Amino acid sequence: MALPGDKSISHRYAMLAAIAEGNSEIRHYASSQDCHSTLRCLRGLGVQVRESGETVTITGRGLRGLTAPTGPLDAGNSGTTIRLLSGILAGQSFETTLTGDDSLTRRPMGRVAAPLRLMGAIVNTRSGELPPISIRGGDLKALRYRLPVASAQVKSCVLLAGLYADGPTAVYEAVPTRDHSEIALQAFGAKVSQRDDWIEVDPAPRLRGMSLEVPGDLSGAAFFLVAAALTPGSEILLEKVGLNRRRRELLDYLQSAGLDIAVEREQTQSGEPRGDLLVRYGAKLVSGGLPPISGALAASLIDEIPVLSILGSQVAGGLEISDARELRVKESDRIGALAANFRAMGVTVEEKPDGLTIPGRQCLHGGDIDSLGDHRIAMAFAVGGLFAQGETRIHRAECADVSFPGFWPALSKIAHEA
Ligand code: S3P
Repeated sequence: MALPGDKSISHRYAMLAAIAEGNSEIRHYASSQDCHSTLRCLRGLGVQVRESGETVTITGRGLRGLTAPTGPLDAGNSGTTIRLLSGILAGQSFETTLTGDDSLTRRPMGRVAAPLRLMGAIVNTRSGELPPISIRGGDLKALRYRLPVASAQVKSCVLLAGLYADGPTAVYEAVPTRDHSEIALQAFGAKVSQRDDWIEVDPAPRLRGMSLEVPGDLSGAAFFLVAAALTPGSEILLEKVGLNRRRRELLDYLQSAGLDIAVEREQTQSGEPRGDLLVRYGAKLVSGGLPPISGALAASLIDEIPVLSILGSQVAGGLEISDARELRVKESDRIGALAANFRAMGVTVEEKPDGLTIPGRQCLHGGDIDSLGDHRIAMAFAVGGLFAQGETRIHRAECADVSFPGFWPALSKIAHEA
């Protein structure tokens, strides 16, 4: 089975292509609505973007060639679009306002506004540091910045702004997060280095257009890894999945718990590894249980915790999740959404400020799931529905398109083959 292109990587390739010189061809660009929000915003900044199937061709305008939009840019549901683009806009001498949908306009922007202000950009937000966010920048001061939260979006925002600074800009992360920006910046010709836990980017004279292929989205694959793990006799092949060292901790975690996942045909393109995953029913995992998720692991698995929670409710020993407070400020309050929807399925869970305690081997009862319009909640409980007694109805299920258009047909297909 083929997965949509990786969402995180697609955003970064499109943004860097827009500020590079020359044409970039991005193959297997994510079909997700979020990545199309990025393309929409780039068009609003005067960038020529052509789409042909899954291939996106972008004519770069150079680091300082973007043009002032005629009105606010709409980032839709996409936190990555609004936060990463803020970094690039901090380097432009005109003012841009970025906004988004009901969910995005409730998400914190202070985490990007603070470092950009330190670099000299003028950043205004709605009260409470919420979107809309307006940014006017220009020549920025170099910054050495310790990330106050483990966030790849904030790290990336600062590194992108660093392209426009008057000296090297460095970001310190106490907890490592996905390093797609560092890899993509280097692919487009920027100088990025790492010393201890400081990641440093040099101001760039120019970036060069590239021809790239986006790997499949491992976070999308996670729904099928869990479905296969819980289905006796199952075997699913997931092709050309992204295996970035920070993201593949999901595989290490499941493998350490006894799940049989074979990684085949590994190769690396433009610094991003990818390979095929063959996963089978996880008898050993179901009877042996899952290690707790806490500390740095919680940051690595942040997007997969919803579906891993479903897995936890079905395996011996359940699942203990802590240090995952960031889940409260995702597309929905995912800790609250998981707790409420588990209860709707007759499952007992304990909600904590920074996680959940989920007892194992519980019977899921079909029920009404309120996805709150959050794609990962909708898809996680869809996987739960496969193992429930009775019918599960997922409300606002179309939100899966935010990251995974084609999720529902793909899930029906594997459910019928099972
Ligand atoms: C992302 C980073 C993570 C993740 C999101 C994508 C990225 O967000 O949850 O889905 O592409 O950089 P945070 O940086 O807010 O943790």
